[in-house]
Amino acid sequence: LDQLSSASKIKCIRFGEYEIDTWYTAPYPEEYSKNRVLYLCEFCLKYMNSEYVSVRHKLKCPAKHPPGDEIYRNDSISIFEVDGRKHPIYCQNLCLLAKLFLGSKTLYYDVEPFLFYVMTEADHRGCHFVGYFSKEKRSSAQNNVSCILTLPIHQRKGYGNLLIDFSYLLTRTEKKTGSPEKPLSDLGLVSYRNYWKLMLSYELRDQTTPLSIADISHRTGMCADDIVSAMEALDMLSRDPETDAYILRIDKQALEANIAKWEAKGYVKLNPEALVWTPFV
Ligand code: COA
Ligand code: NA
Repeated sequence: LDQLSSASKIKCIRFGEYEIDTWYTAPYPEEYSKNRVLYLCEFCLKYMNSEYVSVRHKLKCPAKHPPGDEIYRNDSISIFEVDGRKHPIYCQNLCLLAKLFLGSKTLYYDVEPFLFYVMTEADHRGCHFVGYFSKEKRSSAQNNVSCILTLPIHQRKGYGNLLIDFSYLLTRTEKKTGSPEKPLSDLGLVSYRNYWKLMLSYELRDQTTPLSIADISHRTGMCADDIVSAMEALDMLSRDPETDAYILRIDKQALEANIAKWEAKGYVKLNPEALVWTPFV
């Protein structure tokens, strides 16, 4: 009975200018789960019960961007590094928001072991939340992303790809290789497969000399398994019928075509020079 009475009725969130339909339920406290609409502050991510409270909040909330350090800024795009230990309330609110769009279990309250990388787009009113990923401060499994989200109102515009690209930039800066935490959602998987194929296309289109998987790992930050699966997806790998060894065949025209198709979309690109960051120790 308890469970029934606490079942969430939230169907959408009011977020800045937007009303966004939710995909899954999230464990907001019961008194916030009774209404159809949940009101969120787009800057501090505080959740509220009514339009009245949210209008009052907006008048006094000083936040115009996420907390933490702005470690990347290129044109209107910024990325803030938010430490779960230093900003637990913001990070818990962020995890609850993410859960509304994630079917699998995620963390909500134990945010301390994580860093959160929040991507925003700026205008005269502030830095507006676009998406984020979380990352364990000390990952035993070399995971460089735990959870990743683009708000539905911003999906399919290349921001997820930008966040993934950024996660590998951090990994390369740490002089490591990494891979996202498994299992990935269906949307996570299509996005990562697209990214991995794209990265290999860029890496190999000008390749004229022999190279190893380890070389590619070093250059991209991708782990060997993900490189091999991307090569398979690109139809680059076959087996020598005699020795059973892998043979890599690079079809440069096909790689150029992948790149041209992607670049024609005109999505925002990562500018590695715009990162100001030293790894967490
Ligand atoms: N259907 C088919 N292909 C998709 C797709 C979809 N819904 N979403 C992404 N892709 C593939 C496409 O190739 C896409 O390029 P295109 O839009 O030009 O065709 C490419 O990935 C890049 O997509 P992009 O726009 O950069 O991704 P996004 O900003 O929409 O974010 C996620 C991708 C996964 C972050 C987003 O779908 C999301 O937040 N999902 C809910 C949370 C989740 O499942 N997270 C992953 C598990 S932790
Ligand atoms: Na698109």
